[in-house]
Amino acid sequence: MAVHITIIGSPDRKLEELVRASGLRPAVASAVDLLALTHPAAPQPDILVVDIRTHGQIPAALNVVKRQHPGTSIVLTVSQLTPELMLEAMRAGVNECLPEPLTVDAVSGAISRLVAQRTTAVSGQVFAFVGAKGGVGTTTLAVNVATQLARQQHSTLFVDMHPSYGDAAVQFGAEPRFSLTDALDNTHRLDFSFFNGLTVQTKGGVTLLASPDNTPTTPIDPHRIRLLLDFAVRNYRYTVLDLPRSNPAMLDTLEVAQTIFVVTNQELAAVRGACRVAEALSRRYTRDKVSVVVSRFDKSAEIGVEDIEDVVHASVGFTFPSDYRVAVQALNEGNPFILSDRGKLSEAIVAFARQLTGDANEAPAMSRVKAFGARIGALRWLATS
Ligand SMILES: Nc1ncnc2c1ncn2[C@@H]1O[C@H](COP(=O)(O)OP(=O)(O)O)[C@@H](O)[C@H]1O
Ligand SMILES: [Mg+2]
Repeated sequence: MAVHITIIGSPDRKLEELVRASGLRPAVASAVDLLALTHPAAPQPDILVVDIRTHGQIPAALNVVKRQHPGTSIVLTVSQLTPELMLEAMRAGVNECLPEPLTVDAVSGAISRLVAQRTTAVSGQVFAFVGAKGGVGTTTLAVNVATQLARQQHSTLFVDMHPSYGDAAVQFGAEPRFSLTDALDNTHRLDFSFFNGLTVQTKGGVTLLASPDNTPTTPIDPHRIRLLLDFAVRNYRYTVLDLPRSNPAMLDTLEVAQTIFVVTNQELAAVRGACRVAEALSRRYTRDKVSVVVSRFDKSAEIGVEDIEDVVHASVGFTFPSDYRVAVQALNEGNPFILSDRGKLSEAIVAFARQLTGDANEAPAMSRVKAFGARIGALRWLATS
């Protein structure tokens, strides 16, 4: 495995020579280049060596680099390691501090430890969203969840997996020049800088790989989707997928996904669809990997959460309230509402995103409503038919 290492802020070539003596070929950059690395889409070295021996100040940008790119390992070289500096370095997310005198053994020891950690490092997580039926609000949910993940300072990639005419770019207000087709046609040259050229940065900080505005001339190759998703996992903390429910190749390649969310609403046809999609996905993967969530939730609707659970044989993971005004305005403006709205729908999305990242204190309680006899009869019949 090639290890990419960048040295930043070194006044002379001594450190570079020590890294070379450890068998690596470092790139050398100036202190101002650190700012460029803070960008969510900036290609990252595996190991970043920041040399502060001359001034002893940890650059503020280092904190941001680590927040945006938790996978980047950071080594700090210092003239003297005081307890204060060590504390500050820990807070900035520095992995290793090397004080003077710098030796080949000290430098190569630190690099070996980091390389060993990297090979066992936790990779990024993929969350997939698939609608039980068209129009239930799947894209709206996926776009706003991804934007919220990016707002929580996580590098986030959104892939609109519709082989043609997906509308996530419209919701993001983005105008992509390239698309999923270009990525799948070029899986052999998927490195970060190439991939970066295919994506667009959205206002909320999400990197978007859009759906093409034409029909692909060749069928989707599942192997290429897997390569694309593997690339995503290695390069982004979170990847959000907006999946078409009627494309077997897309639904058959989700082994890397942490969770596949089946999005339904409280209409009979949607619940029926949710049952079918959730069953098929649970059979293909495992039941633990599939979660049913309710969009446009209305607690006084005839079909309640318990009714849906009865039909889909799984608990409903989350409900998102209905707010047509906010949803449509955001869509028309090409501005995910999570960036400006503070209503109940946005609150639910924030809580949901926190749960995904594992920093939720508590999920909001879901409202449950009483079943309606006749309707339930029909739903149970659907579930068993
Ligand atoms: N929580 C919600 N409350 C009210 N309307 C919503 C909500 N989520 C989405 N919508 C509206 O529903 C319609 C379909 O949304 P969309 O996200 O495109 O659905 P899908 O991707 O499932 O086809 C849009 O007009 C959107 O504004
Ligand atoms: Mg959609």
